[in-house]
Amino acid sequence: MKHVKTKKITKLIVDAEKKAHKETKGDIEPAFAAPVKWPVDCVVGPGLEGAIACESKIGYVNGSKGELIYQGYNIFDLCAYSTFEEVSYLLLHGNLPTKPQLSSFNEKLIEYRNIPNTIGTLMGFPIRTMSAMAALRAGTNFMRYECTYADSPDYIPDRSKIISADEDSIPMETIPMGEEHAIYEFKKGVKESKDAGLDLHPPEGYPACYHLISGVSSVAGAVARIRQGFLPIAFDPELSHAANLIYMITGKKPTPVEERVMDVALILHADHGMNASTFATMVVASTLSDIYLAMGSGIAALSGPLHGGANEEVLKMLEEIGSVSNVASWYKHARAKKKKIMGFGHRVYRAYDPRARVLGPLAEHLVNEGGDAQAKTMLSIAKALEKEVISTLGAKKGIFPNVDFYSGIVYSCLGIPPDFFTPIFAVSRAAGWTARVMEYLKHNRIFRPRAMYVGSFDRKYKQSAGKDKKLKKK
Ligand SMILES: CC(C)(COP(=O)(O)OP(=O)(O)OC[C@H]1O[C@@H](n2cnc3c(N)ncnc32)[C@H](O)[C@@H]1OP(=O)(O)O)[C@@H](O)C(=O)NCCC(=O)NCCS
Repeated sequence: MKHVKTKKITKLIVDAEKKAHKETKGDIEPAFAAPVKWPVDCVVGPGLEGAIACESKIGYVNGSKGELIYQGYNIFDLCAYSTFEEVSYLLLHGNLPTKPQLSSFNEKLIEYRNIPNTIGTLMGFPIRTMSAMAALRAGTNFMRYECTYADSPDYIPDRSKIISADEDSIPMETIPMGEEHAIYEFKKGVKESKDAGLDLHPPEGYPACYHLISGVSSVAGAVARIRQGFLPIAFDPELSHAANLIYMITGKKPTPVEERVMDVALILHADHGMNASTFATMVVASTLSDIYLAMGSGIAALSGPLHGGANEEVLKMLEEIGSVSNVASWYKHARAKKKKIMGFGHRVYRAYDPRARVLGPLAEHLVNEGGDAQAKTMLSIAKALEKEVISTLGAKKGIFPNVDFYSGIVYSCLGIPPDFFTPIFAVSRAAGWTARVMEYLKHNRIFRPRAMYVGSFDRKYKQSAGKDKKLKKK
């Protein structure tokens, strides 16, 4: 992927990092970046906001500094010098791969991209009328059926490396004491099925993670093609993960610059702390359900409008604004109506989202290199709107562009249809979801928060008249 034209991309990322250093100060937040001594004190808001559920080395979002770290590496360095394949390996295994490790990882990804039965099954579904995310979720289930022996009656899950506590064994009705060791442990060394087919793997462990990271891109490609009324395109084993994704969705092999930009976008979306979809994936995995079913829950959570999908809304908003000259009046009106401006603000960042710092210049680069008139107008409106929002809400409320503000423009320039922005997010986040599940299962404890009961007590039970009649008839 080292091509003379992609050098410019590297420079844009390095410049974005310099700008970030200059503009955002701040330190590591000790409340969220230190070993935990259980039980832990933390201020918890509704929806578990601020709650600490586990320790993790996978990634850290420093909201006040606008910093994103994967396994100790700054996101800018990973974007500038790594590929999505390397970053996925890093998230899963803790270190960037050596050359032989990368080549065997790539071999696995190529092998696992091939999911003919899943694609065939999807083609028998009403994909054209289903939401793309629902189809993606169905696809991960079909992959589970095609390539694992999860449903074989002989299959016994290998729990040898998982220490776990089941719900009944936890003293639920007492204050959790954060026991270091689980109360109930699975037997060690349980054998896997003797009848397991050679091509199949268990629905858990690293092969399953590699399979999901790789195969879900083939599912996304097939779903995109079917929804556009075409037949799915087989992946090209010579292409990278990013290039294959563009190829399988659009039917066109990308230029080196397009491939590199998609690669960077995938890196940027690969992990982002304990967000809703990651949490959903981990909650399901913590029951020792398998990783395919867990990832299906992640996809389901991501499909909600409060999580994935704001970038599609950004494009609609820019279209609604229509021209740079309308920006000021549109914004004034939106503020008066207390509208949230799409692509701005974040639950964790109170500074410029580092992912937007990279995607902004990449959008500009793509538009300048070959964007049509529509793309040029969208970009100019976006830049004018960014100025307006930052000058009014930046310093005052910590509202800055988030990852979604420029990603829609980037994906549009790559020929990706808007209904595929969120599926691409899922394709990328497969790396973070699987990595976090693998890490959590090493010290698994089933998730089980409490709700505060605010209902009444001692209500007198009165059988309904209707029920009385039915009983009499019998
Ligand atoms: C992402 C988001 C849900 C985070 O919300 P949050 O952390 O709960 O922030 P709050 O809703 O508590 O907002 C805090 C303040 O900032 C304001 N604010 C937050 N996001 C804003 C936005 N996008 N535009 C204008 N004002 C915004 C709120 O109105 C609120 O103001 P107030 O103190 O006068 O009531 C929110 O910023 C948002 O809806 N953004 C637009 C959608 C989006 O881009 N989503 C993608 C996120 S990656």
